[in-house]
Amino acid sequence: MADTDNLKDTKDYYLDVPAKGGSFHVKGASALDWGMQNRLARVFRPGSGRTVMLAIDHGYFQGPTAGLERVDVTIVPLLAHADALMCTRGILRTTIPAAFANGVVLRASGGPSILKELSNEQIAVDIEDATRLNVSAVAVQVFVGGEFETQSIHNLTRLVDAGLRHGVPVMGVTAVGKDMVRDARYFRLATRICAELGAQFVKTYYVAEDFETVTASCPVPIVMAGGKKLPELDALTMAYRAVSEGAAGVDMGRNIFQSDAPAAMIQAVGRVVHERMKPEQAYDLYQTLKREKVGVGA
Ligand code: 5RP
Repeated sequence: MADTDNLKDTKDYYLDVPAKGGSFHVKGASALDWGMQNRLARVFRPGSGRTVMLAIDHGYFQGPTAGLERVDVTIVPLLAHADALMCTRGILRTTIPAAFANGVVLRASGGPSILKELSNEQIAVDIEDATRLNVSAVAVQVFVGGEFETQSIHNLTRLVDAGLRHGVPVMGVTAVGKDMVRDARYFRLATRICAELGAQFVKTYYVAEDFETVTASCPVPIVMAGGKKLPELDALTMAYRAVSEGAAGVDMGRNIFQSDAPAAMIQAVGRVVHERMKPEQAYDLYQTLKREKVGVGA
């Protein structure tokens, strides 16, 4: 029986303290439901509003990739430094410790390998499996201007509908075909289409000219894609410029796991993204951590 005797009187109403309604720290997400916001908060740190996402999903279309041959050996030790991990469900279930408590952004589109037309993707994960895995978001490639443009956008909208039903955000990934011009005009088009059609955040490439117009015209957060491996200082500079010009963080793969010192690199990227550390200073930090092998280990 419930113990209802001698209940303490209520009295602490804090009548002079205005109720905290609370605006949410993720751009464009204030009107979303609690579950969706909770998942977004596992990706975007409430303190800075930004994220360092580690992308290791490359195997979904290109098989084992340099640096990802043994995810258990090379990637698991980096997880402590990642706000979120972008990966496939195969790697998540087989190799990522279930105790990993930060965000997981699940690759949810796929189909063609590097041997075929890459834009011919379909949805590759049921939303029910995404919730079973308790992921923070699902990611879908969108090929604006590509051969299977409409199909890939349809993949996005179907995932957005499913995500809204289950409280799972969708990250639209703007994929650029070999023949497409990578400029601000193209990325404004592609990112805005993703956001207009319901993506809660968008991954896109950095461009040196007018990137701030890409972030400004997109009503949801933009996360900068890493792209091919660059010298560490260049990658840190690109990350610094992207966040200074409005990106809500990075989703980097090869520039971290193909670095000479991945643990040092992800920590340096973290300082750039969350603290706006200048690239040169972050590079010094990278070199120090590399020398001292700091942060290496699970
Ligand atoms: C391509 C992807 C990738 O699969 C991956 O996440 C790319 O990472 P990076 O280019 O930083 O190595 O999303 O668009």
